[in-house]
Amino acid sequence: MSTCPVVHGGEEVPKLDFGGTTPYEDYVHASVLHTLQKQASDDPREMSFLVITQIMELYFGLLVFEWRQAQRELRADDLRAAVRTLHRSDLHMQGLNAAWRPIARMTPGEFNSFRDALGEGSGFQSGVYREMEFLLGEKSRSMLVPHRAVPKLHDSLEAQLHAPSLYDDVLAALHRRGLGIPVDVLERDLSRAYEPNADVEKVWAEVYRGDDRDLLELGEALTDIAEEFARWRYDHLLATRRSMGAKVGTGGSAGVAWLEKRTQRSVFPELWTARSFV
Ligand code: HEM
Repeated sequence: MSTCPVVHGGEEVPKLDFGGTTPYEDYVHASVLHTLQKQASDDPREMSFLVITQIMELYFGLLVFEWRQAQRELRADDLRAAVRTLHRSDLHMQGLNAAWRPIARMTPGEFNSFRDALGEGSGFQSGVYREMEFLLGEKSRSMLVPHRAVPKLHDSLEAQLHAPSLYDDVLAALHRRGLGIPVDVLERDLSRAYEPNADVEKVWAEVYRGDDRDLLELGEALTDIAEEFARWRYDHLLATRRSMGAKVGTGGSAGVAWLEKRTQRSVFPELWTARSFV
């Protein structure tokens, strides 16, 4: 998309005449984007909730895209490129988390004004969020069930369930560089949630004590991602606590009590625990 102004009567002004749609529209599809905000109620406060949910959904897709790119770079043993991609994804996550602000402080009355119109709809049913969790190593076969009736999404999640997570690719790259990642970790059943391992913890402690800048940068980029993901979960929990207290969720869970358990988990676990040994 060109952004060059044209010279008009001796003065540079943006081009005004286009035969059809503008190149901006052809690239961004803004007119399609702006048709997607269909409120379930006629309460004006619902619009922020809907648009921010859509923005977060776009960020989830972008993160999946970036982490797949980082996986390709790790598989090519290009650690510097992977770290650069992971840094970019960390910046996206900061944007994602900032998006909580406008809706994080809804009162129960404000949320109630459109909550019933959401029916059984819940972010819990976001397929791309689940892909994101799978890429972070939080695999769970039962999370495929809501998507049984949509074969394309179900098949994509099923493939992701059995595929290496981002962390699996990191550990494989460390192994190829001669670090002591145990074979049973590399050859584990990839469809199960990643479990912390004492030898992997030792490897990260070694990386943090050592002087290999590339490995240290990799560890820190992953920790940034783990931290921002924990922050997303915690901000979600707080927003939920503020706007609906201990009520049952629209998706049928125990609500805050269920989210509290999810918030206690951490991705890339040894990157946190190894710090005690450095
Ligand atoms: C203040 C507004 C919000 C409230 C009160 C709320 C409430 C909840 C609750 C109670 C759950 C548990 C499942 C259920 O029973 O529904 C849930 C899950 C979830 N929500 Fe929200 N939510 C809010 C905003 C959002 C937004 C804006 C998003 C962005 C897409 C989102 C994404 C999710 C996701 C991905 C899950 C699944 C989490 C997991 O599996 O660990 N939520 N939400």
